[in-house]
Order: sequence, then C-alpha cells, then structure tokens
Amino acid sequence: MTGNSSQQRLGQISAHLDSNDKMASVFQNVPQAPADVIFSLTAGYKADTDPKKINVGVGAFRTDALKPYVLPVVKKADAILFNDASLDHEYLPIAGQPSYTQAATKLILGQGSPAIRENRVAAVQTISGTGANHTGAAFLAQYYTKSRKCYISKPTWANHRNIFSSVGFEVEEYPYWNPETRGLNYAAMLQTMRSAPAGSVFILHACAHNPTGVDPTQEQWKGIAEVMRAKGHFPFFDCAYQGFASGDLDRDAWAVRYFVEQGFELFVAQSFAKNFGLYGERAGNLTIVAKSPADAGHVFSQIEKLQRSEISNPPAYGSRIVDIVLNDPALYAEWKENLKYMSNRIISMRKQLYARLVELGTPGTWNHITDQIGMFSFTGLHASQVKVLKEKYHIYLTDNGRISMAGLSTSNVDYFARAVDDVVRNVRV
Ligand code: LMR
Repeated sequence: MTGNSSQQRLGQISAHLDSNDKMASVFQNVPQAPADVIFSLTAGYKADTDPKKINVGVGAFRTDALKPYVLPVVKKADAILFNDASLDHEYLPIAGQPSYTQAATKLILGQGSPAIRENRVAAVQTISGTGANHTGAAFLAQYYTKSRKCYISKPTWANHRNIFSSVGFEVEEYPYWNPETRGLNYAAMLQTMRSAPAGSVFILHACAHNPTGVDPTQEQWKGIAEVMRAKGHFPFFDCAYQGFASGDLDRDAWAVRYFVEQGFELFVAQSFAKNFGLYGERAGNLTIVAKSPADAGHVFSQIEKLQRSEISNPPAYGSRIVDIVLNDPALYAEWKENLKYMSNRIISMRKQLYARLVELGTPGTWNHITDQIGMFSFTGLHASQVKVLKEKYHIYLTDNGRISMAGLSTSNVDYFARAVDDVVRNVRV
C-alpha cells in the first residue's frame, strides 16, 4: 500500500466511525424499568451491614435460626436421585414428565376428582408458578375469545399484572382487602364480578392469599362460584401455598375442588417453591380442566406447541424431587410432616408477634395478625411507616405493609414489635 492509499483508507475508517457515532442507538427509546418490588428488597437487605437487620420482604421460609430450610424429605429424594445409576441428562418431554404432572394434578384436584375420573384434564410442567401463570395466560391470549379482560385482586402478588398484561390482556382489579375490617371485602368483590364483562378471566388465589393472608370462607367461595357461573367468567386459580395455609393439603385445595365439582372449566397454576422449599429449581405445573377429553387434548396440544417455542423442555431436577416424593407413600407422609413443621412455625410467629404488640399496648387492633393465614401478614402499616422501618430499624418489607412471617424468629420478634410500636405511635400516615 502506498503512503497515499493508506492515508485514504484511514480517512475512510474515521469517516465511518464518525457516521456511526452520529447514528442514533436502536435502544435510545428504551426507558429504565422500575426495580422489582420484592427482589430489590432482598438485594437491599443483603447489602445492609447492620446486625439487627430483618428481611420480611420475600416470601421464603426460614427456620427459627433464620436460615433457609432444606426439607428433610427433599434431602432423601435428593439422595435417591444421586444414587440412581439409571438417570441421565436427556431432555424431558416438552410437556414435562407425565408421572410428575399427573401427581401434581392429583394433589390439587384430589384423588376422587370427577374431572380426573372422566379423563378431561391435562397438565403441563412449567417454570414454577410464574411459568404456569404465564403459559396459561399466553394460551388464553391466543385461544380464549370470550373476553380480553382479566381481573386480578386488589392488592395482589406483584407479578400477576406483569404476567397477564405482557400477553395482551387488559388487566383490571377486583376489590379484595377491606382496610377497615382488615379482612375480605366480599361485597365489593362480588359487585365487581357482577359488573365485569361476561366471560372475563378472574385470577383467584386458591389459598393463603398473597399479600393479605385473607381467604374467603367456604360459604363465600360458594357465593363467588355462583356469580362466576352466572356471568360465565373463567376461573384461573393460582396455587402457590398448598399445605402452607392450614398445614392440610386437602383443606387448602378446597376452593379449586369445589369449582371443579360445580362443573367449571378452569386452569390451576401450581408452584412447588414454597411447599417443597424448591425456590431455585422452578418446579411448577399448569392443570387444565375442560368439559371433554377431546377439548382437554386439544388445549394440551396447543400448550405443548407454545411451550416448545418458549422453553422447549422444562428443567428436570426439581420436578424429579417432587415426582419421587408425591409417588412414594412413605415419603409423601414425611412431606406432610415437614409441611406441618413449616406452617406451625409460621402460626407460632403470628402468636408471638401479636402477644408482643398487645403487651406493648401498640395503638390499634392486631388480631388480624393471628387471623390471617399462610406466609404473609398484611399489617396495615402505611408506606411512610414502612420507610422509617427500613431507614431507622433496617427492616425490609414491601411498601404495602406486607410481611413474610417466616422472616421473624424468637430472636428478632421483640425488636420487630418495638419497631412497629414506634412507627405506629410516631410516624404520620
Ligand atoms: C413473594 O411474593 O414474595 C414470592 O412469591 C416471591 C415472588 O416471586 O414474588
């Protein structure tokens, strides 16, 4: 290359770089998304160096020593997997392992379910409960033609709106919490169900409502079913806490089973994060209850096709553990004991927190702490009080006043109650 031509070449390169600089980025209109309300709390808690810090943000079980809990039955299933020389790392079927999806479906619908007996159910293994919600929502967005509206409870789990709006549903809310009674706003909930366009999709929490810890009574569920039927609404149950709410797997599945007995077609999203302590393994299931075996089969085929395009094949490890436990009578019995341990610890923390607040004479009534069930308590604390709890006391909870009861222990409940007492007395709402 002559000196002249190499200079020309350099000139071309720098002109090219200049024009590149001037070209607008294809990402220039992407706004910053807000941080996730729940997982950003965990990050804040981890970064906090104060020894008194408390994380009552994320709904994850902790022992009284505030350590994650690996269920003893999960350890046993783990050992079985480890020693199983026949296991390999091949793909699971697109819709997951049938022994797992069938066991999960039986767990939620019950052994004697008419829908199982009549062979009009189908199930697909999903990426935990979030994946089950998403897969069901994505299918409905494509094939459910009665309504584009989907109703979530107010308040609800932070991810429901994201999941259903991301597939194109118009997401509305139905009233759920009554701040006056700190209980269910049943009348307003039914009123919204009555006035919603016919055939709307309603997301219902099967048990241990997140975030309030308030569930409808069986009588109230019957009333909800009546209105849902009259309006032709589609029930989509989200069940993330079976066995956690009452310690009794059947009792916590009552609402879903009642709707099936009443002849509804429905979806149920199941998560094994909480009741198996398998948070990171993402073991979930979506059960479809249809009117006929043919309909169930068609829906299954479409969901399988959808799943192929989204995750191809579900992950094997967590679901294998659940599969082993659900299909072995001795391990299943042991799992129920592990569940009782977890739900009892939570109930005991409710009692201890209530007793401390009463002892301190904290203004207000606190019986909702013991009345509510499941992982969470909806304290009634306001965002301004939550802010002070975080800044002054290093206590991490969502702005709506939800606390994960498992973040409390015999060692921190007193500190927590005193902090609550202070903000209730001294922080203006
Ligand atoms: C929660 O509500 O804290 C848990 O279900 C974790 C999550 O995914 O939001």
